[in-house]
Amino acid sequence: MILVTGGTGLVGSHLLFQLVKDGQQVRALRRANSCIDELKKVFEFYQEDSSDLFQKIEWFEGDLLNYFSLKDALLGVSKVYHCAAMVSFKPSDAMEMFSTNVEGTANLVNACIELNVPRFCFVSSIATLGKPLEGEVIDESTFWQNDDNHSVYSQSKFRAEMEVWRGTKEGLNAVVVNPSVILGPVGLERSTGQLFKSVMNGVRFYTAGATGFVGVRDVVKVMIALANSDVVNERYVINAENIAYKKFMAMAAGALNVKAPKVKAVRWMVSLAWRIERLRYYITRKEPRLTKETARTSQHKSFYSDAKLQAYMPFKYISIQDSIENTAKYLKE
Ligand SMILES: NC(=O)c1ccc[n+]([C@@H]2O[C@H](COP(=O)([O-])OP(=O)(O)OC[C@H]3O[C@@H](n4cnc5c(N)ncnc54)[C@H](OP(=O)(O)O)[C@@H]3O)[C@@H](O)[C@H]2O)c1
Repeated sequence: MILVTGGTGLVGSHLLFQLVKDGQQVRALRRANSCIDELKKVFEFYQEDSSDLFQKIEWFEGDLLNYFSLKDALLGVSKVYHCAAMVSFKPSDAMEMFSTNVEGTANLVNACIELNVPRFCFVSSIATLGKPLEGEVIDESTFWQNDDNHSVYSQSKFRAEMEVWRGTKEGLNAVVVNPSVILGPVGLERSTGQLFKSVMNGVRFYTAGATGFVGVRDVVKVMIALANSDVVNERYVINAENIAYKKFMAMAAGALNVKAPKVKAVRWMVSLAWRIERLRYYITRKEPRLTKETARTSQHKSFYSDAKLQAYMPFKYISIQDSIENTAKYLKE
């Protein structure tokens, strides 16, 4: 039996689809108030009459923050895919995000060690890697520096990954993946669905930065291959292409049949904008649309290398254009 956490999210929904399609016995952790409608839509998007497939998922009600629910969920489990996390850049989510991502991962790691679960695959992020000077390529060996001005999300993922490495010293057999920005069918309010939402809403500005992107179908393929391999306690960057935000937004706008942003938000404009947003937040308590960290990231050009993964298992990615079109098709439907 395989346990998947985060099954209602972007990565988890695609992983569940692939696993049940492959005939695996799968249990999925869900919270009492988790909504599984989006997951059903994802199944239907990839396969008509997918209700039989969907029925194969064994649901287990629990929470990363409830240690005992995790222990119960792990009974009879031989492999765990830990995809659940809180992904947010809102200041008001900081505390909940830290506990969900760090304490939640520590709970799951501890429960796996206690129950001798043989294999653990953790979805980390490129957010846990260091930030070298612009232009230098980032890979698994680019280590995190505390003074790199990381977002709260990055800090929480870094500390979550540290919990996994701590677990490996206590007997956990793990493989960690560090995907770049993951694109794929998901609701507009969740995960990278929000990027598509802003393009759909006709955002007028683009910024000078660049980052790595990868399609969700590839992320789950690599996760399954690595989790089934004999790799022990290694981390792998998963990244299909490094693309400028301007190009990404133009591609997304094209796929959604809306206008691409035309105005370049230069450094001083972005720097003024996050300060205005912060002031607005203090006065109105409305979530800022831009924070100091997201403003900085939006201007930074970060290039990622997946050479370590390619050396271990040569892998041909679906193009980012294809992943964008696939997501847009889902959103339009
Ligand atoms: N999206 C990206 O671009 C990206 C890039 C790199 C790495 N990652 C990592 O990939 C993983 C999956 O991301 P995603 O984009 O699929 O996120 P997502 O769509 O926001 O899904 C998050 C999942 O975590 C679950 N969850 C949140 N808090 C929980 C808790 N306390 N107990 C149990 N489950 C909880 C959510 O369940 P509910 O339905 O109950 O809310 C949901 O199923 C995360 O670890 C993220 O850090 C994402």
